[in-house]
Amino acid sequence: SIPSAVKIVEVGPRDGLQNEKDFVPTPVKIELVNRLAAAGFKNVEAASFVSPKWVPQMADGAEVMNGIERRAGTIYSVLTPNLKGFEGALAARADEIVIFGAASEAFSQKNINCSIAESIARFEPVVAAAKEHGVRVRGSVSCALGCPYQGEVPVASVVDVVERFAALGCDEIDIADTIGVGTPKRTREVFSAVTQSFPRERLSGHFHDTYGQALANIYAALFEGIEIYHASVAGLGGCPYAKGATGNVATEDVLYLMNGLGIETGVDLDQVVAIGDFISTSIGRANVSRAGKALLAK
Ligand code: HMG
Ligand code: MG
Repeated sequence: SIPSAVKIVEVGPRDGLQNEKDFVPTPVKIELVNRLAAAGFKNVEAASFVSPKWVPQMADGAEVMNGIERRAGTIYSVLTPNLKGFEGALAARADEIVIFGAASEAFSQKNINCSIAESIARFEPVVAAAKEHGVRVRGSVSCALGCPYQGEVPVASVVDVVERFAALGCDEIDIADTIGVGTPKRTREVFSAVTQSFPRERLSGHFHDTYGQALANIYAALFEGIEIYHASVAGLGGCPYAKGATGNVATEDVLYLMNGLGIETGVDLDQVVAIGDFISTSIGRANVSRAGKALLAK
């Protein structure tokens, strides 16, 4: 049987915006995060504390975190690739840090400029510092369903990174289809394997929609009992290190799916549709949410 309730982690302010060429003004980012939290998301990925040379769009992470309203019970997450990032996250009172490593060696080099093993070693002090300060830790496994450089990624490689993240002490682990190549069959195989190594209720699906499979993959993952899904309002996003990759699955579409299945999300679809319109208009991007566009046209 499939879950009766799921948690949707809204990653638009981070994954959705990080690849935008023109700098999105800080007040727009702040309004986006505030409106998302108000719509009911209990977890919003709000910023990155990464090298501004690598991801200039996220250079204002501290200002964003300082500018937002804090809703009780809402987790505001930020990406931290190293201790320097963690220090920034701590100063900005982030509720959760996100460390990220790839299941593919080639992608690790391109995204964080080191091997998988080196990246895990680099995260060790980051996680230790987070634990010391009572900050939640999430580990994101990129290229879990395929890699732009190496192609096929063995299920065993995904399990290996999940186990390393689990050993570090991650509270939650994301299985990420960075380039959206996964299909429902593969999705089930991967989740079926990783749930042997890490508690099902603390695993999430992070699907990009490049090949139009994201909703189908979420539907498949529901049958593996997965209860946490990432999505980006208006389907914003892309990946600078994965050519041609599109954004995450659109949040509006995921909410429409969950509503249709009678699965509780705690999020108000109409508000999210309005937020999708707001952010697309603000940054001059087409809204790629199918449900969002249909509901806006009504
Ligand atoms: P590097 O160039 O190898 O490292 O980058 P470095 O230590 O030599 O640092 C270079 C410069 O950046 C230095 O500045 C550092 O101080 C500075 P300089 O001395 O030259 O003036 N720096 C920082 N500044 C601010 N905050 C920091 C920080 N760290 C260093 N935290 C590094 C290595 C890991 C830092 C770099 O590669 C990096 O920041 N990468 C981040 C890449 C990124 O954000 N990618 C996108 C997120 S992952 C993703 O989207 C996937 C996900 O969505 C899941 C999925 O879909 O798969 C999560
Ligand atoms: Mg992503």
